[in-house]
Amino acid sequence: MLDIRCRGLIQHPASSIQYRFAMTTQDSILKATSLHKHYQMGREDLHVLRGVDISVRAGEWLCILGASGSGKSTLLHLLGGLDTPDRGDVLFNEQDLFSLSSAERDRFRNRHVGFVFQFYHLLPELNVVENTLISAMVGASLGAWTRRRGELRERAVALLDQLGLGERVRHRPNELSGGERQRVAIARALINQPDVLLADEPTGNLDRKTGATILDVLADLHRDHGQTIVMVTHDQSVADRADRVLTLELGKLQKS
Ligand SMILES: Nc1ncnc2c1ncn2[C@@H]1O[C@H](COP(=O)(O)OP(=O)(O)O)[C@@H](O)[C@H]1O
Ligand SMILES: [Mg+2]
Repeated sequence: MLDIRCRGLIQHPASSIQYRFAMTTQDSILKATSLHKHYQMGREDLHVLRGVDISVRAGEWLCILGASGSGKSTLLHLLGGLDTPDRGDVLFNEQDLFSLSSAERDRFRNRHVGFVFQFYHLLPELNVVENTLISAMVGASLGAWTRRRGELRERAVALLDQLGLGERVRHRPNELSGGERQRVAIARALINQPDVLLADEPTGNLDRKTGATILDVLADLHRDHGQTIVMVTHDQSVADRADRVLTLELGKLQKS
């Protein structure tokens, strides 16, 4: 199969933020094959994923729709290398995630994957800009962090400004609304310019109107910056915002 991969930077006209993107022809940025995952609960063997195959094209916004308990979070965690499958492979940017050691996988994830969760997972003692910088800080050596701190802080502030949080950079999470907290979580996920943004029920904890503003943010990232997004949800109206929807049912993915 032809695979011409172009890497580059797109500059947002209204800001100094650059988004890294990967373009491939006829190929996927993220590909999983025959993923199986069991959980052993006492005597019960829960076979959650029963051979999931998925291929995500660079630049697309893909949604996985499924009922509560169908295995959406399990699948998203495997795609981002947060958990390991019992069987099957994940190729992320042609890197076989599960051939890496767990430390190598952590480093890879920090550079290439952005996660957004339903419950934000912000650190309450850090302010908005510090929360945004967490994954940049974790991914850098002490020397690199000291050298690049000013530049990264500027990038974080510009990103927060673009997400409508310019006036909130010194606030703590408990001083923010749910929608604002989720926008901080999105800024944190984007700070390392990830190749793929993985979003787990990103509007699940928000009222419909606020949820729609978060989906607008994802739509802008996708449309204006070519951000590849894989989102999971149980909500058909949320899924309708994506380019392509697959349904997770009985441990397998089907076209919607
Ligand atoms: N760490 C775990 N240990 C045991 N069972 C789990 C674990 N994580 C998830 N499960 C079970 O696996 C199934 C799928 O969970 P999950 O992936 O969270 O579904 P969804 O995100 O679609 O609601 C559920 O029945 C859940 O209870
Ligand atoms: Mg879930």
